[in-house]
Amino acid sequence: MKRIAVLTSGGDAPGMNAAVRAVVRTATSQGVEVVGVRRGFQGLHQGDMRILGPRDVANTIQRGGTILLTARSATWRTPEGRAKGAAHLRDLNVDGLIVIGGDGSFHGAHYLYEEHGIDVIGIPGTIDNDLYGTDHTIGYFTAVETALDAVDKLRDTAASHERIFVVEVMGRHAGHIALDVAVAGGAEEVFLPEDEKPVTDVVQVIQDSVAKGKASSIIIVAEGYPGGAMGVSQAIAEGTGLETRVSILGHIQRGGSPVSSDRILASRLGEEAVRAILEGRTDVMAGRVNGEIVFTPLHETWEKRKDVSRSLYRCAKTLSI
Ligand code: F6P
Repeated sequence: MKRIAVLTSGGDAPGMNAAVRAVVRTATSQGVEVVGVRRGFQGLHQGDMRILGPRDVANTIQRGGTILLTARSATWRTPEGRAKGAAHLRDLNVDGLIVIGGDGSFHGAHYLYEEHGIDVIGIPGTIDNDLYGTDHTIGYFTAVETALDAVDKLRDTAASHERIFVVEVMGRHAGHIALDVAVAGGAEEVFLPEDEKPVTDVVQVIQDSVAKGKASSIIIVAEGYPGGAMGVSQAIAEGTGLETRVSILGHIQRGGSPVSSDRILASRLGEEAVRAILEGRTDVMAGRVNGEIVFTPLHETWEKRKDVSRSLYRCAKTLSI
C-alpha cells in the first residue's frame, strides 16, 4: 500500500483532529502517503481531497471540531454516489480509506468495501459513545466534561432559587452521556433512551425530594428519551403543580478542546488503524476494550448493542436519596 485516504464524517467530536494527525503521521512514518478528504463522504463523492503531510496536522491535537470538515451525506446512501467516490479514490491510486465517525459513517465505509473492494478501517468518533466494540468513542470524555460543567453551573442557580431544573444532554439513541453526567453531577433522577420507565415516575421522585427537605433538584434527560426534557418538565407540572426550568445543552457538547483522555484514545486508535490497514485488515473498527486495542467487524458495531452500565444506573439511584 502506497497511499491511503482519511475522512471525518457525521457529527463532529472533540479529538477527531488528534485522530487525523495520528493517521497522517503514522502512515508517513511507514512511507505511505495520506490523502485528506474534505466534508466526509460528500467530499469523497465530489473528489474534494488533497495530500496531507505531517506539518499539515501540526498544532491540531488540541483543537475541537475537525480540520477536514464533516457532513451527513445523502448522496453516499445511493450505490451511484458510492461508485463515484470509489472512482475518485482509484484515480488517485488510493488503496485504503480510514473513516473517523459513528455508525452512519461506518455503514458508508462498509458498503464501499463490499461494493468496490476498497479496504476500510473505522475509528470511533462520536460524542454519543454508542458503538459496540469499544469502551469509549473519541469525543465522549470531552462531551461529558462540557455537560457536567453546565450542570454544576445550573446547580448554583437552582439552589439559589430553590428550583427544579430539567437538563437535556445529547444522545440520540444512547444514554451514556446522561448517566455519567447524572452520577458526576449528583442528579436526583435520570431518564435514558434505554429506560423502560414512564415519564410519570418523575412525579414520585419530586414528591420524595420535597418530603426529604430538598429545596432544589436536577433531573438529567437524554435527548433520545421519548419527549425529552420538555416532556419531563410537563409531567412534573401536571403531577405536582411545581414550576421547573428546562435547559437543553445541545451542540455546545460537541465543541471545545478535547480533554486528555480523548486525545490519547484518538492518537492510539489512529496509529493502530494505520498499522492494521497496512497489515491487510479491512472492514473493521479499531476500538479499545479494557485497555487493549481490538478490531470489530464494522457491521457488528451497529448491530450489537453496547448497553449503559446497569450498576452505574443503580449507583445514580442509590446516591440520590
Ligand atoms: O453526533 C452525535 C449527535 O451529537 C447526537 O447526540 C445528536 O442527536 C446528533 O448528533 C445531532 O446531529 P446534528 O448536528 O446533525 O443535528
